[in-house]
Amino acid sequence: MREHDVVIVGGGLAGCRAALEIKRTDPTLDVALIAKTHPIRSHSVAAQGGMAATLKNVDADDTWEAHAFDTVKGSDYLADQDAVEILTREAPDVVIDLEHMGVLFSRLPDGRIAQRAFGGHSHRRTCYAADKTGHAILHELVNNLRRNGVRIYEEWYVMQLILEDAQAKGVVMFNILDTNLEVLRAKAVMFATGGYGRAFNTTSNDYASTGDGLAMSAVAGVPLEDMEFVQFHPTGLYPVGVLISEAVRGEGAYLINSEGDRFMATYAPSKMELAPRDITSRAITREIRAGRGIHLDGSAGGPFVYLDLRHMGQEKIMSRVPFCWEEAHRLLGIDAVHQPMPVRPTIHYSMGGIPVNTDGRVRSGADGLVEGFFAAGEASCVSVHGANRLGSNSLLECVVYGKRTGAAIAQYIQNRKLPDINEQSYLNAAYSQITALFNQSGTIRIGQLRQAFQDCMTDYCGVFRSDELMREGLNQLQQLQQQYQQIYLDDKGNCWNTEITEALELRNLMLVGEIILTSALNRQESRGAHCREDYPERDDTNFLKHTLAYYSPAGIDLQYKPVSITLFEPKERKY
Ligand code: FUM
Repeated sequence: MREHDVVIVGGGLAGCRAALEIKRTDPTLDVALIAKTHPIRSHSVAAQGGMAATLKNVDADDTWEAHAFDTVKGSDYLADQDAVEILTREAPDVVIDLEHMGVLFSRLPDGRIAQRAFGGHSHRRTCYAADKTGHAILHELVNNLRRNGVRIYEEWYVMQLILEDAQAKGVVMFNILDTNLEVLRAKAVMFATGGYGRAFNTTSNDYASTGDGLAMSAVAGVPLEDMEFVQFHPTGLYPVGVLISEAVRGEGAYLINSEGDRFMATYAPSKMELAPRDITSRAITREIRAGRGIHLDGSAGGPFVYLDLRHMGQEKIMSRVPFCWEEAHRLLGIDAVHQPMPVRPTIHYSMGGIPVNTDGRVRSGADGLVEGFFAAGEASCVSVHGANRLGSNSLLECVVYGKRTGAAIAQYIQNRKLPDINEQSYLNAAYSQITALFNQSGTIRIGQLRQAFQDCMTDYCGVFRSDELMREGLNQLQQLQQQYQQIYLDDKGNCWNTEITEALELRNLMLVGEIILTSALNRQESRGAHCREDYPERDDTNFLKHTLAYYSPAGIDLQYKPVSITLFEPKERKY
């Protein structure tokens, strides 16, 4: 059996930052990081617009309190305010630390780190590297892991969390190269496995965002928190759904409907295109529903609106948002210097996740903790985003809470022994699972079932929701889950068998989808990204609380836990 002091699953920003902090705290610790892609292809690499921090390089009167208030208001008052205070207070230091590591942030003429406007933020506080910020940070972090001797298992797929006696002990994984199964035990296990964008048919997320860590935790008995809060990014490039960064609007682009109006004046007059994402996504969807969307031939009544950069000019477009220009050009042949881009909302981010405290320790419920288990980043829910995340707060969360979780792990394992595991029983179970997949002789291809599932989630759990819609969604999802036994694999070999991974990912996605729909159905109010046409108002009396969803094959049990309100009393949210 393989063994390390710590095993971190996930090679994105949160996992890498945690690994680095563990080695910085105690260089003698043996840290392993497992990633199903090469770590620099983790989805964090696709983060574009930036990372918020009150450096005050552009707006001298900015404060961490203002950042905290914007974040809590953006969250529709569901964020845990103790966690938000940590996030916003520690933000400037973690940015400077990244700079010292060598991250190439964009600069002001005087050499200080540049900062731009972002949705829902009251000041220009988003630090950036053009529109490739995740790329700039992740590359530097991965370099640092190598420098510090972190053992990287790249292109290994973790298929089970070993959690026994309320204690995380290790993982079962296989090498995607040859399907070789291994059990790995550790004194602490951390999940930084990212989100589940691939549960929907249009997403800004990469193909690897399949909710694996969420599903494995749920199957092991850990609750998932606030899974009903699914973020739509307002400006996915139509029709593919890839991200056109909010930075484009931060730098001055307009949203225009078929009548040529900047329609955000109707929905958020004080913020316009820089309203928070939930409000902007609903506004775009309402315009499209009202027949003021646009068709590809330019006529009215179509499925998208325009994002218009033309007035910004070539120099600004090419220096501040070159990647977005390139995406539209490469994918649609559009030159955004001279033509508007077609956009509409695309699934972007999970506000919910594995519940953790502010040291990254996984919660077993409203009060208890799971021994030996930690999580950070998008896979986790420390709840700094509540019901709606502000743009440029997610890279920040990964770095602040990745670092804190790494420091906490380094302390936690000081007097811990490696756990006992019955390796053979786990290997046998995993082998049986893979063999069963090979032996299934159904008639449904994996891609076919995945598409049907993604369409179901998109149609029944989208920007606007209702009881009727979501019940039908759950009904269809349950039928699709039964069809999982009917999928077949074309490839029965062991060499680079990506179908096995895809089959396991699909199982995970469907489980996550069931938890999203069930949690959403029970939240009978509208808050942040969860907008119900049958309950259009926020209901603080009954729903100012976090959902905890406990999965079992027999069904999902929902419990609730209170929100931490330490700084700002909830009030009406207007922009
Ligand atoms: O629009 C963007 O660049 C995305 C940023 C974020 O999700 O924080």
